[in-house]
Amino acid sequence: MVASHLNLWATVLATVSLLMPQPAAAVNCHCYLSNGSKPQYFVNHQFLDFRNIANPKIPGTINDETAALKAKVTHPYFNSSAFANTWAISSWAATGGTYDNAYSKNDVYIATNTDGRPQSKTYMTMRTYRHSAFQESAEIQTTSPNYKYVSMRMYARTRGLKGAVTAMFTYRGGATDADVQEADLEVLTNDNANQAHYTNQPSSANGVGRPNATNQVTIPTWTQWRSYRYDWSRGLSTWYVDGKQVNQNAYQAPVDPATLLFNVWSDGGNWTGPMAVGGSAAMDVQWIEILYNNTDYPSQFAHCANVCSIDKGTAPGVVALISSGR
Ligand SMILES: *[C@@H]1O[C@H](CO)[C@@H](O)[C@H](O)[C@H]1NC(C)=O
Ligand SMILES: *[C@@H]1O[C@H](CO)[C@@H](O)[C@H](O)[C@H]1NC(C)=O
Ligand SMILES: *[C@@H]1O[C@H](CO)[C@@H](O)[C@H](O)[C@H]1NC(C)=O
Ligand SMILES: *[C@@H]1O[C@H](CO)[C@@H](O)[C@H](O)[C@H]1NC(C)=O
Ligand SMILES: *[C@@H]1O[C@H](CO)[C@@H](O)[C@H](O)[C@H]1NC(C)=O
Repeated sequence: MVASHLNLWATVLATVSLLMPQPAAAVNCHCYLSNGSKPQYFVNHQFLDFRNIANPKIPGTINDETAALKAKVTHPYFNSSAFANTWAISSWAATGGTYDNAYSKNDVYIATNTDGRPQSKTYMTMRTYRHSAFQESAEIQTTSPNYKYVSMRMYARTRGLKGAVTAMFTYRGGATDADVQEADLEVLTNDNANQAHYTNQPSSANGVGRPNATNQVTIPTWTQWRSYRYDWSRGLSTWYVDGKQVNQNAYQAPVDPATLLFNVWSDGGNWTGPMAVGGSAAMDVQWIEILYNNTDYPSQFAHCANVCSIDKGTAPGVVALISSGR
């Protein structure tokens, strides 16, 4: 197994410099090779592009928890196959905190990019808003719980009031806290704008902390647009910001297939802190790009004639053929 993998590597390295990037439409990719400190092969590629969506609209908040939980999607994009075939917007309430944290479809929307020199016409906003009786929050997750190994990226920024978390993560539930498998990037708006938290959960179980699970790291400021990346490879979590590795952790790296999620929330508890009534925070996302499902069996890639890269593409979402004709 190892030998065949190395042979493939040799082929890739030999052909890499000979081939120029090509547009996705012209390329029939049989697999994808990621770059970074732990390059790996993946079977699938997905690109969610929120940068040029017609009829952006910022919805008002909903001052009633039950109504917030019943809200419909805010834009036809979220009903379109491009999104809804693989993703769903959550509507459920976490009730264990200082106040309820209610994920509402109302808080995932398409907004106009009003930046000074905007890089896009629109983006997706995930918002959390503090009502006196509860928090109205935002979460999207894959409809499939069966992603095993990923390189997931988003181009995003966090803004708003103290007392919120914005997150990109993998999740697999368990019978007890100790059985949960979860790899998190979390930004806390309570922190300085150059701090991020990277965790292979659980960070505590049965009331006992597991400090090796989590690291607080200095990163480029999250109020600016950044590309965030999480790579899950066998026995290892690696996180990048703007193409540079910022954290790596083998301790409790996820093992079994997982769901992929993004969320923005607060419950007034010790982790998020409380948010002032009438306040809000948000994560704006221009795009999400994911390589997923590689395999424990590199022999699968014996059939991978056209190896592609998203790192060497000319733009987000654009793939480049890096070796072919094997
Ligand atoms: C991956 O390749 C891209 C394009 O060459 C580069 O910008 C980025 O820094 C690389 N990422 C890593 C983690 O090496
Ligand atoms: C999305 O689909 C739901 C269910 O079919 C429908 O009730 C709703 O009106 C649609 N929303 C938009 C904005 O298209
Ligand atoms: C990943 O691969 C496994 C095994 O082939 C498959 O069962 C699962 O559905 C795939 N996941 C996705 C999201 O396609
Ligand atoms: C946690 O990290 C410390 C310091 O690196 C190490 O000595 C210890 O063995 C680690 N614990 C576990 C359970 O891996
Ligand atoms: C929050 O912190 C307080 C005071 O340190 C502690 O009593 C409480 O158990 C903590 N709650 C959680 C959910 O960790």
